[in-house]
Amino acid sequence: MRILLFTGKGGVGKSTVAAGTAALAAERGLRTLVLSTDAAHSLADAYGVPEGTVAADPVEVAPRLHVQQVDAQLRFEQSWADVQRYLLSVLDAAGMDPVAAEEMTVIPGAEEVLALLELRLHARSGRWDVIVVDCAPTAETLRLLALPEALGWYIERLLPIQRRLVRALRPVLNRAAGVPMPGDSVFDAVASLHAELDEVHALLAAPESTVRLVMTPENVVLAEARRAYTSLCLFGYRVDGVVANRVFPDGGEDPWRAAWVEAQDEVMGRVHQSFAGLPVWRSEYQSGEPLGAPALRDFAAALYGGDDPLAVPGGDGPFRVTRTEDGAAVLHLALPFVSRAEVDLARNGDELVVTVGSARRLLTLPPGLARMDVAGARVGDGELRVRFAAPTTVGAAAAGAGAEPTGGRR
Ligand SMILES: Nc1ncnc2c1ncn2[C@@H]1O[C@H](COP(=O)(O)OP(=O)(O)OP(=O)(O)O)[C@@H](O)[C@H]1O
Ligand SMILES: [Mg+2]
Repeated sequence: MRILLFTGKGGVGKSTVAAGTAALAAERGLRTLVLSTDAAHSLADAYGVPEGTVAADPVEVAPRLHVQQVDAQLRFEQSWADVQRYLLSVLDAAGMDPVAAEEMTVIPGAEEVLALLELRLHARSGRWDVIVVDCAPTAETLRLLALPEALGWYIERLLPIQRRLVRALRPVLNRAAGVPMPGDSVFDAVASLHAELDEVHALLAAPESTVRLVMTPENVVLAEARRAYTSLCLFGYRVDGVVANRVFPDGGEDPWRAAWVEAQDEVMGRVHQSFAGLPVWRSEYQSGEPLGAPALRDFAAALYGGDDPLAVPGGDGPFRVTRTEDGAAVLHLALPFVSRAEVDLARNGDELVVTVGSARRLLTLPPGLARMDVAGARVGDGELRVRFAAPTTVGAAAAGAGAEPTGGRR
């Protein structure tokens, strides 16, 4: 099953391109689902279906073309309700005004992430050949999806201990401190949410899942697309193309238009440079909004030209491991546009902590690498390379006895 995600700055044409690509796929005979997590319901508008037609369940808007707008609020309440109720009771016990407390328990972006959980059910259902996801602006959502990886250690090792502890202490503490202890349902909710997020992240990091960056040829938009590209790579998503939308067509005598054409030309040059190696698909500024499945399909057909919009890119993902002749291993992580000074690297047991600006990823090392020591790292050619070598010191003797090497673990 092919999964395509479209992301990009607000208003650049994500929904239009997503809807058009899906229409194209359906026309080729593929069972296609377009999923939107956007509260604005713009997909229904794009396909021109009457208000209320597109509901919580997929609705067929053209042959084989189904649309679903996930009710993020509803999903949020279902998945998060237990945890939120607990937090509210704690804040209440602390004497906080309930309205303010309610606001404090809302995590920005959480609704969007929970809406993506819907993807899991659809992927499992076997109903679809292609799932197109119309994402929220910027890569923030996809970054949040990597959360399970970051919380994995806590969930797997700490949560069970905490749970047992709380169960034992609950009767005593509830009376003594006046602060309610989390009930089993809170732990259950956290654990199942974790598993669900993990599954979605795995789905999206699979080779058949790719992300396309939609942009308009403007400097600020390009700058954001570049940041998104770096962040997507860092979190293990494959970007397989860039859509330059709303390009002004050349022609006529109008100086206003000529100035735009020239300015966009200049930015397009930088787009090609920035995303060298990736296809850059162009779409002109149409004389009207592309609305309705047929118009959107034509829009997408012109956009991709002769290219297959559903092709699965070959080559390596953003993450791979190579071996050197001397028995060392090199971990490669694609990190476009990043200079050495911006990257910070730390080892934490079997995890590698990669920090790029404000984004941080905890990369769980494959078992082969986890046993080795970091021998060096470099950043260049759009890539972070970390060299691992067999442990040389005392650890080697201990490993021989079958002991878990504990060095570096905090
Ligand atoms: N190439 C184009 N030519 C003309 N109109 C376009 C083009 N691309 C998109 N539009 C129109 O621009 C508007 C915004 O597009 P769209 O809703 O796809 O953007 P978006 O990135 O999804 O926005 P948001 O960030 O709000 O979700 C829509 O009215 C759409 O029909
Ligand atoms: Mg949109």
